[in-house]
Amino acid sequence: MYYTKKRRIKKGPIIVLGIIILVIILITVGINLYKKYTSDEYKLGKAGYSENEINEILKFDDKYITYAIDHKYEDDFIPLVQEKYFIWKNYKQYIKFIDEEYGNKKVDYSRVVSLVNVGANNDPYTNTKETNMDKGYAILVNKYTSLPEKYAPNDVVEMSNWYAYPGNRIRQEVYDAFKEMSEAAKEDGYTLIVNSSYRSYDEQKDIYDNYENNRGKEYADTYAARPDFSEHQTGLSLDIFSPGANMSNFADTETFKWLSENCYKYGFILRYPEGKEEITGYNYEAWHYRYLGKELAKKVYDSGLTYDEYYAYYLDD
Ligand code: DAL
Ligand code: ZN
Repeated sequence: MYYTKKRRIKKGPIIVLGIIILVIILITVGINLYKKYTSDEYKLGKAGYSENEINEILKFDDKYITYAIDHKYEDDFIPLVQEKYFIWKNYKQYIKFIDEEYGNKKVDYSRVVSLVNVGANNDPYTNTKETNMDKGYAILVNKYTSLPEKYAPNDVVEMSNWYAYPGNRIRQEVYDAFKEMSEAAKEDGYTLIVNSSYRSYDEQKDIYDNYENNRGKEYADTYAARPDFSEHQTGLSLDIFSPGANMSNFADTETFKWLSENCYKYGFILRYPEGKEEITGYNYEAWHYRYLGKELAKKVYDSGLTYDEYYAYYLDD
């Protein structure tokens, strides 16, 4: 009789293999689930961010990702962190300013960041701090940052009538830089003349008081700094005109064009530019130039920022 010998299949090893495969599958699934629920993506989703928003947040530094995970959804978070001059320590102030200023209106984040960075979200001359004099020629002086009380530089020299109207004085290094700039302007066919320069505390006080007495405080504050808050008291600023020009027409002159485009090469910047009044706190002053030294003046010029913004972002400690 013909028959085939039945092969007996051993079940034991198959069951063991099955169990091993199952365990591997369970471990893999477990690991994947663990990874998912502990991932930043998942946590950001839980915090309320959409997939697109999560992709943006994951490009940020770790500290911002951690913040987003630990707090509930904030619609200003991503656009603020994406602002070029965003400063993390100012984050809460940005949010407060947005709430106060914008409500449900479309937010101009660039404006928010600029104004908060320079302190202009606060009223001028309130909670002011004293400037860090260790910064030398780079010191910041504005409506939020004062000079030490009744500060007076000790290297102020008389300017010759060749360069300035009578009675002008300025710090030596600034004078040397102005002379160099003035010669360069002459070679290009322009004449620069200094109308105002170093002003002592008392001189600045007289100017401010005069404006205030004639036109009121609000007007005075847009044209003149209060004593101890003026760049003129630092001995680092000059009001420069062409002969015969004045405050109302200098901005329209070719000399102004030359000066505003070339001053950085000699260490100066235009301190109160047009369109930046909200940031600087002053009306456009085509004539007011601040000495910073050649290296820093070029950096500030290239940045396109006001000095208040530049200092807040790059120089404030
Ligand atoms: N005019 C400028 C702001 C000053 O008084 O210092
Ligand atoms: Zn000035």
